[in-house]
Parts: sequence; structure tokens; C-alpha cells
Amino acid sequence: MLEGREIIVGVSAGIAAYKAAALTSLLVQSGFGVTAVLTRNAHRFIGAATFAALTGRPVATRSFDAGAYPLGAHIELATRADLIVVAPASANLLAKSASGSADDLLTTLLLCAECPVLMAPAMNSAMWAKASVQRNIQQLLDDGITIIQPGSGWLSCRQTGAGRMAEPDAIATLIGSTLVDRPARSRIVGKPL
Ligand SMILES: Cc1cc2nc3c(=O)[nH]c(=O)nc-3n(C[C@H](O)[C@H](O)[C@H](O)COP(=O)(O)O)c2cc1C
Repeated sequence: MLEGREIIVGVSAGIAAYKAAALTSLLVQSGFGVTAVLTRNAHRFIGAATFAALTGRPVATRSFDAGAYPLGAHIELATRADLIVVAPASANLLAKSASGSADDLLTTLLLCAECPVLMAPAMNSAMWAKASVQRNIQQLLDDGITIIQPGSGWLSCRQTGAGRMAEPDAIATLIGSTLVDRPARSRIVGKPL
């Protein structure tokens, strides 16, 4: 029933970016059309080639790419998207989104989004416990974003605690249940008025 729905997987810069590849693969296997949008720093953690191969599509990173997206990538991707999931959502991405900042493709796209937006935070437990991070989480919840709570467990900083990104299969299940009762978006982009 959900086959062909368009999902954008936004990937920001954290160790859990490797889990975004597993999530992407699960979504593709479920029949979704998936486009990956990576922040510049996400490329330090995982290669665009992985997402290009998994999705069968180019990876979007640049805000200004008139050849591929004449209307602006943020506009074209937002218009097509049935759902945007940001996984992992870095503390930086959460802060920028909570304040309405739009200084790169992913944050600009999030400002244009008219579809459901899910964010899966992932960070060190000290970062996750910071008042500023929790303020941003509350702001995003108030703005209608679905926050997929991180779990507790082994963190790459060699500590055990809160901040571990939700598992890809749990995120994929939530995406399915979010979309199941929603009609598919129109795919008309760039038609003359
Ligand atoms: C080794 C390493 C691991 C990091 N892991 C995380 C992380 O799990 N979560 C997080 O919020 N930031 C993490 N950071 C910091 C972010 O990468 C940094 O804030 C970056 O500017 C975020 O960029 P972006 O939000 O534009 O993707 C890490 C940095 C390094 C060097």
C-alpha cells in the first residue's frame, strides 16, 4: 500500500550515520522511493556512494545545484516528499531546526517541508542531557516534529548511557505507521501555473 511513497532520509554528522545506511536499505526493500540528503559534515562519517547505491539515486548535499534542481533542491525535494526522516539528528541539526535556521540544504528543506518530519537524535549522553538540547527538543515537539527518542546503551565514546540512536527497524516501522493513513502527495513539480 505504501509502495512508491517518497521518503527523504536526512543524515547529519554523527557516528550513528552508519545506521542511516541500514535504515535506507530497509526503506528501499519496503518499496519506498528514497532520496538521501547528507550534510557536508555527514560525509566525514559515511560516503555518499553508499547512499547512492542503496537508493539508486544521486545524493543531495548542495543547496545550489541548478543543473539537477533548477527550482532549488529544497523546493523540489520538499514538494515530492511524503515524509522526511533525519537520522541521525545531530545536536547541531536539532538546534538549527529548532531556531528555523536554513544555512544548508537539509535545514532549508526542513523549513519547506509540508509532510511529516521525524527526527532520530543521536549523541553522547552529556550532550543529550544538556538543557539547551532538551530545550530544542521541546521546541521541535511544539512545532509538530516527531522525535524518535534515543535509547540507552553503548555509545561510541565508550560510555553507556542515553543518546544512542533508535534502531533502524524501529524507525522504519514508525515511518510505515505514520504514512499508512495518509494519502500520497502530488508529484507535480515545476508545472506552469
Ligand atoms: C568523532 C565525532 C563524533 C561525533 N558524534 C556526534 C554525535 O553522535 N552526535 C552529535 O550531535 N554530534 C556529534 N559530533 C559533532 C558533530 O559532528 C558536529 O557538531 C557537526 O558540526 C555537526 O554537523 P551537521 O549537524 O551539520 O551535520 C561528532 C564529532 C566527532 C568528531
